[in-house]
Amino acid sequence: MPYAHDAVRAVVWREDALELLDQRLLPTVERYRRLTSAADVAQAIRDMVVRGAPAIGIAAAYGVVLAARARYAMDAVRWRTAVGSDLAMLAAARPTAVNLFWALRRMERVIARSSGDPAAALLAEARAIHEEDLAANRRMGQLGAALLDERGAVLTHCNTGSLATGGYGTALGVIREGYAAGLVERVYADETRPWLQGSRLTAWELARDGIPVTLLVDGAAAALMREGRVRWAIVGADRIAANGDVANKIGTYHLAVAARYHGVRFMVVAPASTVDMNLVSGAAIPIEQRAPEELLTLAGQPVAAAGAEAWNPSFDVTPAELVDALVTERGVVRTPDAAKMMQMMAEVA
Ligand code: MRU
Repeated sequence: MPYAHDAVRAVVWREDALELLDQRLLPTVERYRRLTSAADVAQAIRDMVVRGAPAIGIAAAYGVVLAARARYAMDAVRWRTAVGSDLAMLAAARPTAVNLFWALRRMERVIARSSGDPAAALLAEARAIHEEDLAANRRMGQLGAALLDERGAVLTHCNTGSLATGGYGTALGVIREGYAAGLVERVYADETRPWLQGSRLTAWELARDGIPVTLLVDGAAAALMREGRVRWAIVGADRIAANGDVANKIGTYHLAVAARYHGVRFMVVAPASTVDMNLVSGAAIPIEQRAPEELLTLAGQPVAAAGAEAWNPSFDVTPAELVDALVTERGVVRTPDAAKMMQMMAEVA
């Protein structure tokens, strides 16, 4: 692995199959699942074998490669119609992370341009999506770490690392870069109920890469801030609206509220592919509701009183006004708003 403190790849293309590190089994079992059809990939996204906004988009792009290969082999004339239904199936896998729809649109454009066997062009596009994500993460790592003006501990939520992206990570990329530069001395990681992305995945990645990590229950974050243990909270995003509102893992919003109250700065790190300029504000972002069983049971065992119901939104929306810095590969936007977002997205487009 070329970069320090970055030893994991969760999404791997193997010529005739997509291999995904099964994130449901971590940290106890490290097993790659081999997927050979778009239906396999859609199910893997739905079931969270692969998760994290950029990783979902990359996996779906490879899913389109698998779809097109199979459909073209079956019918070299009418393959486009059949691939259209595979695209719809992949798009229906999860609703909040816009990277999924962004990646599928890129693949659709290649399909529209192609004549003859589309496999090579689609594979090149999926690989480009994957490589661009890795490059964006490294750029964001540098930009975000440059904001950490003094050595100290940081707080993060969910998993935004190599497991959630093409590699290196978004918020965790900033943390990796900050650690390498001597600016991050320790990472406090929310356990991230109910799926435990923090304790199962972030802690696993950081421990593997030799970065000191301390877990806390999500509800302890405000107390951690009150004790003055962290200067920055650094998180990722699943979708950012045109006014800078940020949808991310449930619990991010109250972290941002607590951070503002305690004078802790709040950084959101996400590639431009996570920005959805079609939505004027976070109120329009579709929020995935997940099964009540995720709260009512733990490792298959009931943990809640019989008869209790559960409200289980997987994401929440943090208003732009609570974001001190939004880092994309295009640059840093301080206190984002509609005008700054428009300028940032227009600059390179
Ligand atoms: O439900 P998940 O695990 O897919 O949610 C992931 C998150 O909320 C991440 O913070 C986000 O996707 C950014 S990952 C770089």
